[in-house]
Amino acid sequence: MAPFSPSRSFALELDSQDELASFREQFVITDPDLLYMDGNSLGRLPKVAVERARQIVESEWGDDLIRGWNKGWWDAPRRVGDKIGGLIGTAAGQVIVSDMTSVNLYKLTMAALSLQSGRKRIITDTMNFPSDLYILQGAVQSLGNRHEIVRIGSQDGELTPDLAALESAINEDTALVTLSHVLFKSGYLYDMRAITEFAHRKSALVLWDLSHSVGAVPISLDECNADLAIGCTYKYLNGGPGAPAFLYVNKALQEKLTSPIWGWWGQNRPFDFGLDYVPAPGVDRFLVGTQPMLSLLTMEAALEPTLNAGMDAIRAKSILLTDYASYLTEERLPPLGFSLGSPRDSARRGSHISIRHTDAYRINRALIEEMNVIPDFRAPDNLRLGFAPLYISFADIWDMADRIRRVILEKRHEKYPQERATVT
Ligand SMILES: Cc1ncc(COP(=O)(O)O)c(C=O)c1O
Repeated sequence: MAPFSPSRSFALELDSQDELASFREQFVITDPDLLYMDGNSLGRLPKVAVERARQIVESEWGDDLIRGWNKGWWDAPRRVGDKIGGLIGTAAGQVIVSDMTSVNLYKLTMAALSLQSGRKRIITDTMNFPSDLYILQGAVQSLGNRHEIVRIGSQDGELTPDLAALESAINEDTALVTLSHVLFKSGYLYDMRAITEFAHRKSALVLWDLSHSVGAVPISLDECNADLAIGCTYKYLNGGPGAPAFLYVNKALQEKLTSPIWGWWGQNRPFDFGLDYVPAPGVDRFLVGTQPMLSLLTMEAALEPTLNAGMDAIRAKSILLTDYASYLTEERLPPLGFSLGSPRDSARRGSHISIRHTDAYRINRALIEEMNVIPDFRAPDNLRLGFAPLYISFADIWDMADRIRRVILEKRHEKYPQERATVT
């Protein structure tokens, strides 16, 4: 960790050396005092996306009407997939944008399990995003409950995985290993290359959920020889609420895999309107039906700041931001009941950290409602703080730590009920 100092002027010094500082101006920021620490859940709105959204609605939908399909709409899942592919280390023709992350996980899980039909084990962990676990359970049920899902880890709020337990669980009966590259609570970052290699030694396929790493961490799917991946576009990629997700299928596997949902967008020649399904070549077979063009094309424009900044610069700043936030947490917050819930080693950490407190839910409420800070709460005791490098400054982090201190010192959280709102 760099030698930091606790003063606010030190944060300003870091900001003065920040090569990405000017990117903040590319986002819509209506309240400069708001400390938005939830870009790992829903990224801010890039100005370029506002302009593009207007153009898509007024000009493309308004004027082009159905002609839009031949003017870039039909090809958008592949075109935008290749742009995202550039951020996750894939050669062209392996990534498509389609549906939502959960649905893409279902499609790729079913395809992988069918290919590995002689094998019965699916390995994941208890720290995975729960929806991913539900999707796996649903897939197992669809296939007649013949598979066993092995979840590494306990249920009692642990935040980093037991790698030895993971390795010993992967055996010759393992069909699929599926993990979140960055864990949603703690920000722990798995070593993609090492785990993929290990799984391949047992001939298991690996499916990575990149939702919390894409746009925050450089990823080299091709170099790691990864098999399959999925991820969302509304977090660090700033694609907008519910923007369509993406999926990756390694070229070597594409012709061997079959989508479990046979729709006309995944058909070989959709405009022949033949009566029987023939899969499209390559990754296109994982498309199903008409994609949400307004959202997809807006998301395409929203990728621009990330593509222009480049993943190396983004990662360098992200490491400094999370190191600095971890330093301030450990320097200023332990006497107030907080502890760091994320790895200290930046090589094992994404772009968010968790700070733990027994009253984290009510502290989160007070921060949002009284202090103009937006983190989020993840049960049982995590105050989750996301640092999107394109618009978070070091002074923001200093101010955030200061406002967290004030909540506790002024007992502001104590007036809030323990009952949780629907979205936390
Ligand atoms: C790691 C991870 N996987 C999957 C999902 C589910 O994504 P969606 O609701 O877009 O299907 C999320 C949502 O936040 C997530 O964080």
